Amino acid sequence: MNADTLFKNSIENKENFWKEQAQEITWFEFPDTILSRDENNYPQWFPDGKLNMCYLCIDKHIEEGFGEQIAIVYDSPVTSQKKIYTFRQAKEEISKFAGGLVSLGLKKGDTAVIYMPMIPQTLFAMLACARIGVIHNVVFGGFAPHELVVRIDDCKPKALITATAGVEIAKRIPYLPLVEKAIELAQDKVDHIIVYNRKLVDNQHEMFDGLIDYEELVQKSEPADCVSVESTHPLYLLYTSGTTGKPKGITRDTGGYATALKFSMKYIYGIEPGDTYWAASDFGWAVGHSYSVYGPLLNRNTTVIFEGKPIMTPDAGTFWRIISEYKVSAMFTAPTAIRAIKKEDPDGELVKKYDLSHFKKQFLAGERCDVATLDWFEEHIGVPAIDHWWQTESGWPMLGLMTFDDQYKIKRASAGKPIPGYDIKIFDENGYELDPHQEGYLVIKLPLPPGAMLGIWNDYDRFQNSYLSQYNGYYFSGDGAIKDEDGYIFITGRVDDVINVAGHRLSTSEMEEIVSSHPDVAECAVVGINDDLKGQVPFATVVLKNGSSISEEDLERDIIRMVREKIGAVAFLKNAMVVKRLPKTRSGKILRKLIRTLLDGKDFQVPSTIDDEKIIDEIQEKIQYYKA
Ligand code: COA
Ligand code: AMP
Repeated sequence: MNADTLFKNSIENKENFWKEQAQEITWFEFPDTILSRDENNYPQWFPDGKLNMCYLCIDKHIEEGFGEQIAIVYDSPVTSQKKIYTFRQAKEEISKFAGGLVSLGLKKGDTAVIYMPMIPQTLFAMLACARIGVIHNVVFGGFAPHELVVRIDDCKPKALITATAGVEIAKRIPYLPLVEKAIELAQDKVDHIIVYNRKLVDNQHEMFDGLIDYEELVQKSEPADCVSVESTHPLYLLYTSGTTGKPKGITRDTGGYATALKFSMKYIYGIEPGDTYWAASDFGWAVGHSYSVYGPLLNRNTTVIFEGKPIMTPDAGTFWRIISEYKVSAMFTAPTAIRAIKKEDPDGELVKKYDLSHFKKQFLAGERCDVATLDWFEEHIGVPAIDHWWQTESGWPMLGLMTFDDQYKIKRASAGKPIPGYDIKIFDENGYELDPHQEGYLVIKLPLPPGAMLGIWNDYDRFQNSYLSQYNGYYFSGDGAIKDEDGYIFITGRVDDVINVAGHRLSTSEMEEIVSSHPDVAECAVVGINDDLKGQVPFATVVLKNGSSISEEDLERDIIRMVREKIGAVAFLKNAMVVKRLPKTRSGKILRKLIRTLLDGKDFQVPSTIDDEKIIDEIQEKIQYYKA
């Protein structure tokens, strides 16, 4: 069956199609019902099936005789450590940690927050939760305490699992002071804080009272068995930026997700069980969940945990070293990482040092990939670079190429074609489908396929308003796109207040809330401007309160600090420019797109709804002065 037939079947005969895919994984009870509706009339997959994700990722392989296969490679140039774990060794760690969680009273349906760096114990903690039906929420280690507080208060975890520190190149990031602050600020009380002590020599800090030592807990606990959960039981919550300051707790099911990931490993990534697959993403992002942990492990691939950066750890050859050393056959990263390597090693000199003969395909996602980066990659690495598009909400690719039969054709600048299960259309604002080459909103006809979000944690109304209310019967992606006559789709960027900074999804509204809380700020607009390396970076334009005497330099310094303290260093807001007025429509809406275009120095059309055209000249003058 070729890619087109698979796609056609997935749309025209969806229940049969996904029933067949579900047969590719092992269920404790195979579902009788393939597709039904929940109490809100939202579609759900395999509702009466029963399974366990940790069983599929670990125990099943041991039962089938692959216990001695390497499941996990940990490579940490920043701490000079390398370690491997077979499936059997991973099971020992995971089942005992799961037993430890049970001994603390955690049970199916409880939640646990995991705030940890790129170390094997993070993966163990995720799978230990999955083993006993505890719903995990991994929080990216680069987020500040405030972000942790928001998540703790929303999902009310019974346990917070953390480590003593992360390592950013040569800099140690102590986690415990951040955790302590978050616990102090959170309204919800977390019963247990479990800490993995990394024993990094230059990172000794005091543990505060009441912490549980991760290793001691593992040592003294009995292994726990996999519990059987319903297919729709949430495996995890993953918070992502939306159009308000409050992140959305995307809720993922178990059975649909396992089915979709298994399908994707075979058909999209073209990976055979036993191969090494490496997604160089932090565990805290959707890619880290789906393709550093669950996807490869349930497909019996060796997964790589990399603690480092594509450059400077120790140089821009690090990716190629890892690919060569562990015989990686397919890799997944964000284009920003390749841009960073290209900048450091424009002629690909470091690539030549390594044997990349096992490396077959490079997958890219997370942000738009510029053609120059694709060209550089293919010229110097000699492997196809395949762009594909997805979101935290989908949990697996929605646009891409099906590489399983090597019949795929890459089109430069396109993120590919709709993946089976995703009936994608490009709509105008009134819900009419657009012809090829016209730019519009990317929407997906319901039901979304297995694996896509179940909803927003404890907030059906927000789920409905964010995704389902714009076009009846369709999921609204928040991205703009153009389709061509061959069905390839070109993503043109977000149509809301979400930006992508070095592959990290962030909300400009959240930043605006922080900037506006500065005592001298009357109003502000934060927009994402183009950046050669990071794709986009946030930029604040600020109107001061009458009578304010703060200097522009002091204000900028304050704002940079406040955003860093509240969101984290990854937000990367480095510029705040004072303007007299912000451009607005006659009804008072800030014209953010116009501000962004002016800051990018691009041609623009004066919006017909603008209240006062003179503001454009004022801002342009200020930009010239600010940049000088
Ligand atoms: N913990 C603590 N701090 C972190 C962090 C973490 N996990 N990740 C990043 N930061 C900090 C960095 O140290 C830096 O701090 P600084 O301003 O004090 O120097 C800041 O956040 C910005 O980090 P980043 O944007 O990542 O820039 P960088 O120069 O450190 O690295 C890249 C640039 C391109 C190498 C890196 O952004 C990258 O690998 N991006 C890919 C992201 C990705 O995989 N996304 C998933 C989708 S596929
Ligand atoms: P996240 O939820 O962090 O995965 O971010 C999802 C968003 O990243 C999407 O809505 C897009 O705006 C952007 N994105 C992801 N993949 C791509 C891609 N291949 N091309 C362009 N934008 C992308």
